[in-house]
Amino acid sequence: MAVIAQKCPGIEVTVVDINQERIDAWNSDKLPIFEHGLDEIVKQSRGKNLFFSTDVDRAIEESEIIFISVNTPTKSYGEGAGKAADLKFVELCARRIAGTAKNDKIIVEKSTIPVRTAEMIKRIMQESQTDFSVQVLSNPEFLAEGTAIQDLHNPDRILIGGEETKGGRQAIETLASVYEAWVPKDKIIKTNLWSSELSKLTANAFLAQRISSINAISALCEATQADVDEVAQAIGKDSRIGPKFLKASVGFGGSCFQKDVLNLVYLCEHFGLPEVAAYWEKVVTMNNYQKSRFTKNIVKTLFNTVSGKKIAILGFAFKKDTNDTRETAAISVCRDLIEEQANLSVYDPEVKESKIRKDLNLKDGEERQLTIHDDPYTACEGSHAIAILTEWDEFKQLDYQGIFRAMEKPAFLFDGRNLLNIEKLRSIGFQIRGIGRV
Ligand code: UDX
Repeated sequence: MAVIAQKCPGIEVTVVDINQERIDAWNSDKLPIFEHGLDEIVKQSRGKNLFFSTDVDRAIEESEIIFISVNTPTKSYGEGAGKAADLKFVELCARRIAGTAKNDKIIVEKSTIPVRTAEMIKRIMQESQTDFSVQVLSNPEFLAEGTAIQDLHNPDRILIGGEETKGGRQAIETLASVYEAWVPKDKIIKTNLWSSELSKLTANAFLAQRISSINAISALCEATQADVDEVAQAIGKDSRIGPKFLKASVGFGGSCFQKDVLNLVYLCEHFGLPEVAAYWEKVVTMNNYQKSRFTKNIVKTLFNTVSGKKIAILGFAFKKDTNDTRETAAISVCRDLIEEQANLSVYDPEVKESKIRKDLNLKDGEERQLTIHDDPYTACEGSHAIAILTEWDEFKQLDYQGIFRAMEKPAFLFDGRNLLNIEKLRSIGFQIRGIGRV
């Protein structure tokens, strides 16, 4: 929304939320999200054509286009628990709009949702509507965290799905005209509602599948003395495969991949396609395997026990350049190591201590096994091993000679991101293990 405000000075954008604290943060100097370039864009437009408010009803009444951008987490209860998307927040938004709107509206699904959610929104609107028209569009977001602003400024495509009626087509054109302020027309794809909704889930499933595929091969590389980065480079040169998204890692995280793949699995099961469901579910199974394989490798290498040993964890965010920890591989790895009675000292340049503690949800008695540091050197001091779980650039520049001196020997280093130069670290004296390389 900040980028729309920046690129379309003639459009007034109001972001509303029922959470006063969050809106206050958006109106303050310290925004609630860490994302490169976002601060400047928000500060540039805030108070001019970009507003943050808790006055939800007023924003609904005054707006012509309403984006529903609430979260749709994996359902944790009842039918579909663990797989289906929980649509309660989307439904609450639709009901609030239905109860407040008094004139024509275009409602845009920005949240990632299962196929045919637009139907639910339309039904709710139809029940209460009197004499104005409502169009529901699907306009999924493809930005990735850490590169959000550049992805928004220069998207691969904008996808808009709508009803195949005159009103539907008009609504699509209205929304397309917003993006046309900065996106070339040939990058704006217009489809029917269901294609658009399904494309978002499919895109994330394909991306997650690529990572699980290369991670599966990483296990085979370790068994055969091949090097997964060399394999990735070799296959990525095939223009049909391409070089991106082939980085083997400790496992993918983030708010989207697991949730959306499971959502797709649930949809396939719901529509009576168990073979298709099983196929996609393996993408998540492989990711879980990769995370636990990493921890098991640490335990095995440290002479089959980490009990009472200090392990430094460098990086907790699910990827670099974000403070987001949702579904981060670090949660599983740290939890498993704590179960194994290791003492963890965690350092991440952006994630706050309170968030790490909340994510790890430690039981009574486990708290003393965890310390959080604001300096990587103290985190590593006296440790038996270091595990790199996020590919932060600063980890490439650390004084590993000094770190090595201050560690217990043999000094182990597990590079969950294949970030560091193995030869250089070996020459310092580290026992180093990467992913998919010997
Ligand atoms: C993803 C999609 O890329 C984006 O289009 C969608 O809108 C939201 O979900 P995001 O989760 O922000 O974006 O980050 P992404 O860069 O896709 O990384 C996801 C996870 O995969 C991270 O944990 C990352 O470290 C991991 N990853 C990514 C790998 O392990 N290897 C890779 O080659 C790429």
